[in-house]
Amino acid sequence: MRKTIIAGNWKMNLTAVEAKNLARSIADYVGKRSDPLVILCPPSPLLSIVGNEIAASNVELSAQNVHSDDLGAFTGESSDTMLHSVGCAYTLIGHSERRAIFNEDDDFINKKVKRVVAGPLKPILCIGETLEEREQGKTNDRIKQQLRDDLKNVRISSGEDLIIAYEPVWAIGTGKTATPDQAEEVHAYIRQLLEEIFTENTANAMSILYGGSVKPENAVEILAQPNIDGALVGGASLTMDSFTGIINSV
Ligand code: 13P
Repeated sequence: MRKTIIAGNWKMNLTAVEAKNLARSIADYVGKRSDPLVILCPPSPLLSIVGNEIAASNVELSAQNVHSDDLGAFTGESSDTMLHSVGCAYTLIGHSERRAIFNEDDDFINKKVKRVVAGPLKPILCIGETLEEREQGKTNDRIKQQLRDDLKNVRISSGEDLIIAYEPVWAIGTGKTATPDQAEEVHAYIRQLLEEIFTENTANAMSILYGGSVKPENAVEILAQPNIDGALVGGASLTMDSFTGIINSV
């Protein structure tokens, strides 16, 4: 059985007080419930604050980004060891905003994935095509290229060691969601590629999340698709009502 995961990517939002209050409310709401697994991805200065609030619950902590080295002169960056020491169990890698705004390329993302799978955190690798690529019929080509490059020489022992998030760039923060059929088609293709890269068993055990304007109004239909194992939620993870609405759509 694959794990169903609802992850909230807070991006660069919330102050310490707001983060503490939201994290506490979510922790109280989720409590010891483990299905779906709820993960919060606050900005790095707020990781410890959120970690403290969720410590007694089954909510897990994720970073939004990680560096590919362990320590050293990398101003502004954090390593997996460091993130683990403040309570993280997961980290996003290769979010489209990191790729587009901060020029992260597949080679750098591959280095991060290789390091993280060998350490204490589990990576949530984000991939997805742009609007231009979709309109040119190049969605599958782009997905294949990203998965092959980002997972090159990545060794895992089970499908639970890695999570994939499919986030079509054109659906992020735009209010445009892929239709459940469009999303399912890409998720099924991703699973087929994962089978080629790893093994059938590994691919079948790996959770593939959908992200891009997920909200309570569209979550039920999206999450009902056979190859969609959860959601990576941006804007709608910032308020209690909308985030719990999505958790309850599983
Ligand atoms: P939105 O839900 O705001 O579209 O963001 C999706 C996302 O990028 C999550 O990582």
